[in-house]
Amino acid sequence: MLEWQIELGATEAIGDAPVDRYELAKTRPVAAAAKAAPPAPERQAPQIDPVAEARVLAAAAGDLAGLKAALAQFEHCELKRGARNLVFSDGRPGARVMIVGEAPGRDEDIQGKPFVGRAGQLLDRMFAAIGLSRDTPEPARALYITNVLPWRPPQNRDPKPEEITMLLPFVERHVELAAPDLLIAMGNHACSALLGKRGITRLRGNWATALGRPVLPMFHPAYLLRTDSAKRETWADLLDLQARLRTP
Ligand code: URA
Repeated sequence: MLEWQIELGATEAIGDAPVDRYELAKTRPVAAAAKAAPPAPERQAPQIDPVAEARVLAAAAGDLAGLKAALAQFEHCELKRGARNLVFSDGRPGARVMIVGEAPGRDEDIQGKPFVGRAGQLLDRMFAAIGLSRDTPEPARALYITNVLPWRPPQNRDPKPEEITMLLPFVERHVELAAPDLLIAMGNHACSALLGKRGITRLRGNWATALGRPVLPMFHPAYLLRTDSAKRETWADLLDLQARLRTP
């Protein structure tokens, strides 16, 4: 139980002594009164369509700072409540290549930046091998990086389809505002979001189109960390991307 709480970010004690909330509930007059009170008349909750609200908020964002602020005020995704930070993006807006990953993990949640853990370090080395970096000021060599989900799923579980659908309007607007020439869909969940398809083993290396831009599906670096044999295909994909960037 303690480990689970630490995972969720409950790492600070806020009182000097433990509180037995079961005892507290028995003695509280408010609780007793509530027990005796007649049931409140049922109220009709207003119908909210989170996807429609996401669309409105995302469309109203005029720049990347506005989009980040819009996400920060979006209250319909439960993941937000378990996350320490909103993980919006890293790298250089205006880069020719934009990478769309899956969701923040523990390190990303702590630092508020995408791809900073082990998978992120491998991602940096992969793209450095073809001369691209998230830290360079040169637009031609720069990367811009985001994720389909901006909040860490508990225990690093897979994103749920309804979470992807709910947050997709923000991803679409993100791509519009960052305006890259090319997108990289990193792994299955990014392919689901951008291409509406899964099956990365079949999809990888095959250029597709989404949001009016070429998209290259690639194996996720977390998968490459466990699967040496997939590195050869990833190298081929990186060379293909490099060639595409060199083509006028
Ligand atoms: N995996 C992702 O897809 N994104 C991150 O930011 C970190 C790990």
